[in-house]
Amino acid sequence: MAKLTVSDLDLKGKKVLMRVDFNVPIKDGVIGNDNRIVAALPTIKYVIEHGGKAILLSHLGRVKKEDDKPGLSMRPVAERLSNLLNKPVTFVPTTEGQQLEDAINGLSDGDVLVMENTRYEDVKNGEYVKRESGNDPELGKYWASLGDVFVNDAFGTAHRSHASNVGIASNMAQTAAGFLMEKEIKFIGGAVDNPEHPFVAILGGAKVSDKIGVIDNLLSKADKVLIGGGMTYTFYAAKGMKIGNSLVEKDKIDLAKEILDKAGDKLVLPVDSVVAEKFDNDAAHKTVDGDIPDGYMALDIGPKSIKEFEDVLKTAKTVVWNGPMGVFEMSNYAEGTLEIGKFLGTLSDAKTIVGGGDSTAAVQQLGVADKLSHISTGGGASLEYLEGKTLPGIAAISDK
Ligand code: 3PG
Repeated sequence: MAKLTVSDLDLKGKKVLMRVDFNVPIKDGVIGNDNRIVAALPTIKYVIEHGGKAILLSHLGRVKKEDDKPGLSMRPVAERLSNLLNKPVTFVPTTEGQQLEDAINGLSDGDVLVMENTRYEDVKNGEYVKRESGNDPELGKYWASLGDVFVNDAFGTAHRSHASNVGIASNMAQTAAGFLMEKEIKFIGGAVDNPEHPFVAILGGAKVSDKIGVIDNLLSKADKVLIGGGMTYTFYAAKGMKIGNSLVEKDKIDLAKEILDKAGDKLVLPVDSVVAEKFDNDAAHKTVDGDIPDGYMALDIGPKSIKEFEDVLKTAKTVVWNGPMGVFEMSNYAEGTLEIGKFLGTLSDAKTIVGGGDSTAAVQQLGVADKLSHISTGGGASLEYLEGKTLPGIAAISDK
């Protein structure tokens, strides 16, 4: 059933609690990448343009001790948001109490407020009490009491059942999805539940163990599952091929065998690899077919594999891509990932959905991001969604 969205709500003069995922990379107060803030702007702008008072809640990093707090303050995030909105944003350096309540009560229609990191509530008086991460019922109730309506736009946090998403929702008459949440549900949920065929999944990354749930679920939905990245060589080992010094999860070889047996020709492995003598961008490297020679490790898929993957992709109507094809951060082993990203940008008839840090970085670096249907803001959330799991943050949003 379709979910209630922010555009179904009457926002005029309302205190609109908004859970956003502003968990951005931050070091010494400097934000590395503000994609998640930018992705929440349409909903924030909609709320303020419709006369709501936007009260934003987000976690930032993981707070396990008092010392973690100063480096994980939301203040720089509030400043970046103010720049992006081109208007003042009130930052309140606390997560509960009079100062916060007064600031909220002082808001005018169209104002924006950001409260301190919700995970500050995980540590009280030096103790790791996990009030936010453990969904403390009193905390969810308290935060819910600060607003009139609740909008959840934090897809990146949807796999967590925390006080600031599920807790608030369970204390509000209704919870609406923001536009980002709506888009993530439409594209990732749509691909998993009702894909247009041919549906091709491209899964990469170092470990089979990270992607096992996704491979399993997508094998039952997709027409082809293309495998790249380090996990390829656990599959090679399962097939009895030589892997040289390539990455392998020995304890997952049996599992890889089971997957190969079950998948038949649905699962496509690279036919060639770029191999190097060392895990080093400047190491001597070459391309080999099939088996990885002794003394070498495979660090990228090779040109024949790229071509083969492109042949499968060119007729696809739905494509989901998560995970790099090689060691993307080293230029000599980035080609597989970049070529796949470039090719996806040419598929104008297909729904193309990208998730995961390296795959997203690749399409952004290539400048093809705007040619794709959807770039997910979720890491763990998008993987669990692709695994077919029910995400508690989404389940807590009201049906239309
Ligand atoms: C993420 O970045 O995946 C989300 O913001 C959730 O963060 P967490 O893994 O610390 O709960």
